[in-house]
Amino acid sequence: MTKNSLKTGPDELGYYGEGDAAMGGMAVGETLMPALHELSKGFEDAIKDKEFLDEYAYYCKHYIGRPSPLYYAENLTKKLGGAKILFKQEHLNHTGSHKINNSLFQVLLAKRMGKTHLICEFGAGQHFSATAAVAAKFNMPLIGVMGDIDIKRVNQNIIKAKHYGAKLEAVPGTLKEAITSAIKIWSSNPEYAYICGSAVSSAPFPKLVAFAQSIIGKEIREQSMEQEGKIPDMIVGCVGGGSNFAGAIYEFLDEPNVKKIGVEAAETAALTNGTLGIMQGMKTYMLQTEDGAKSLGGMSLGAGITYFSVGPMHSYLKDQKAVSYSSATDQEMLDAYKMIAQTEGICSALEPMAGAAEIIFRQAKDKPKDYIICLSLCGRGEKDLDTIQEHIGKDFE
Ligand SMILES: Cc1ncc(COP(=O)(O)O)c(C=O)c1O
Repeated sequence: MTKNSLKTGPDELGYYGEGDAAMGGMAVGETLMPALHELSKGFEDAIKDKEFLDEYAYYCKHYIGRPSPLYYAENLTKKLGGAKILFKQEHLNHTGSHKINNSLFQVLLAKRMGKTHLICEFGAGQHFSATAAVAAKFNMPLIGVMGDIDIKRVNQNIIKAKHYGAKLEAVPGTLKEAITSAIKIWSSNPEYAYICGSAVSSAPFPKLVAFAQSIIGKEIREQSMEQEGKIPDMIVGCVGGGSNFAGAIYEFLDEPNVKKIGVEAAETAALTNGTLGIMQGMKTYMLQTEDGAKSLGGMSLGAGITYFSVGPMHSYLKDQKAVSYSSATDQEMLDAYKMIAQTEGICSALEPMAGAAEIIFRQAKDKPKDYIICLSLCGRGEKDLDTIQEHIGKDFE
């Protein structure tokens, strides 16, 4: 890896890039610093420990069910008549999304660091059910913090997490408020490990979560070489905080020939419509009032990508022009959902349909047939069925 590599990651203070252009950092109060430094050291030690990495690999295979397949979406490809479309099937993982790659990694890390209790936050509930499953497996009590607005629209994951033994704590608001509250509890309870759900927040979380999720891109490379004889020409994924997309592209960051497009929800498109600010421990793009005092942004049907801000790695990659970012509307996500359900028999979560919409409506058609586009299909649709039924249920009658 050269000094100019985009894969060198953030510096010791958590900054991606240098000087005024740097993103990320550790913009937190003093009370949180000891916990963050302890975690940084624990993480850096763990990733040099072969036994730890072998344990992670073991449970990735036998508990999560990795590698997830790289699937040729032949019917969709033919329908669009352009590029060859592959789905990286993260929705087939145990608990139904990519979130468990990260939950498993962080819970094993917490165990290695001698932590006895877990706390996490979430928007769609996927991270809660994933962390609760792993917490049950390793016999650690878990508190999950969720905004009361999100609780109303996503339920199955919460029920499942409770069945696994986790406790739910509701706070007024959405993901942003849940993150703030979970961090507060963590900072005053040293026996807790905070299991952050995306590549956001203060260092070391953006690096740590991207590391855990980078297994997605490593598998894409191997599987694409084996199945297609080449790596994809384009990788597309949805971006909430940015963990599934970070994981899918990390492996390819130093390969400019692989085009990378991250897709946010139109209502919370921090990378397209945001400005630079510092909130929730990181410097990054966000939707905020002009004086930076308050966050802004509407609601998307994709609960997991309704986040006013974005992980700092993506802000850096956007500024470096190494990755492109776009956005998708609710209607586009619903249209993409319907097309994929009916051509491929896959009931996807709404979040990855932001990426699918980009491919279906803007990328695939005008590309040659040997151009490979890989979509990070990062969640299954059960949690969204009521919402989908409410909006387009009549289309299926
Ligand atoms: C299915 C699914 N996809 C995507 C996301 C967005 O998260 P991230 O951007 O960290 O991958 C979430 C978040 O909850 C999710 O549940």
